[in-house]
Amino acid sequence: MPYKIAIIVGSLREGSINRKVARSICGIRGDDLDCSMIEIGDLPLYNQDHDANPPEQYVRFRRQIAEADGVLFVSPEYNRGIPGVLKNAIDVGSRPYGQSAFDKKPAAIVTVSPGSIGGFGANHQIRQAAVFLNMPVMAQPEAYLGHVTDDSFDESGCLKDGPLKDLVTKLAHAFHDWVVMIHRSRQLLAE
Ligand code: FNR
Repeated sequence: MPYKIAIIVGSLREGSINRKVARSICGIRGDDLDCSMIEIGDLPLYNQDHDANPPEQYVRFRRQIAEADGVLFVSPEYNRGIPGVLKNAIDVGSRPYGQSAFDKKPAAIVTVSPGSIGGFGANHQIRQAAVFLNMPVMAQPEAYLGHVTDDSFDESGCLKDGPLKDLVTKLAHAFHDWVVMIHRSRQLLAE
């Protein structure tokens, strides 16, 4: 059975390079990772007053995360930090207190940018939130994907051959192994 992976992309842009990289990662381990892109653009801004009676978008988002075996964050950096839409999604999924949908889900963080430092700042802010939320976050390979532009992809949106594709391929395999390792360790502990 493939592992169910919830992919959260931190860009709502139609031609997003982050979305294209996310699709490439899914394609590489498609037989073993059943990936779904989770919609975050429709989530109302998090408001703690909604905890008792949440909007349907919160309910749907929390269920999709809860049903996943792992979470892959793929995001641009906005002004050296997490795009607001992604931070909102993390906050929505993390509540109500004590009922975080992210709890214990193995995760990986990929940031993608046309710039040279590959979204390093955003990557670490997402990591900080994920670690706080008790998600085992994959350490290596680190994925600050810089110098990525529309030219990095072919007409069908797949990564062209080259060092970027090589790194993304390595990353997809490592994330698969990470998810397997976390779930098998848990099974062993439960025996
Ligand atoms: C950016 N961009 C950007 N890039 C970067 O490397 N570091 C940054 O701090 C920022 N800041 C930033 C702020 C805002 C508001 C925007 C709209 C853009 C550029 C960004 O990396 C570029 O637009 C990417 O193409 C966005 O990713 P998607 O939408 O293509 O996935």
